[in-house]
Amino acid sequence: MTGLLGVAVSGLLGVPALRFFSYPLRRETVHGGEEPIAVADLARLPEGVPVRAIVVAPARYDAWVRIDRVALGAVWLLRRGSTVTAYSSVCPHAGCFVDFADKKNCFQCPCHGSVFGLDGTVQDGPSPRPLDTLDVEVKDGKVLVRYQRFRQATSRKEAVG
Ligand code: FES
Repeated sequence: MTGLLGVAVSGLLGVPALRFFSYPLRRETVHGGEEPIAVADLARLPEGVPVRAIVVAPARYDAWVRIDRVALGAVWLLRRGSTVTAYSSVCPHAGCFVDFADKKNCFQCPCHGSVFGLDGTVQDGPSPRPLDTLDVEVKDGKVLVRYQRFRQATSRKEAVG
C-alpha cells in the first residue's frame, strides 16, 4: 500500500515537474508578426502597377528571446482604386522570389520560368497554383498585410508555420 502511494505521489509531482523542465521543448516558441503589419501608404501606390513591399514584424519571440524589427518576407501590392491586393513574393512552385517584369506586365519566377498575370493566375511554367494572396486591410491610409507562408509544390493553398 505504501509503495502504491509512493508511485501515485511521484506521478502527481513528476508530471508537472517534467513539463516545467522540458519547457519549451514541446511548444511552438517562435511567434510574433502574425498580426496585420503596415507595409505602405495607400496614397503612394500607383494605380495598376505592382509595388514590392517588405513586411517587417515589430518583434519576434523565440522562447525567451525578443528580436525587434524582423523582416518576414516581401509582398507585391497591386492597387485598383481603393482596393489593394497583396501577393506573396514566394513562388508556389519551389519558393523562389517572384519578380515583376514591367515591360511584359506580368510576374515572373527566374528559377523555372513560371509566369503569372497581374491577377495572379498562372500563364506559363510549372507553378501548380496562382500566386498566393494575403489578407489586406487599409486603415488610416496605411496598407496592412497579414503575412503568411504557404506550402509549395501543391495545387492547394495551405498555410504553414
Ligand atoms: Fe518558381 Fe520553380 S520556383 S518556377
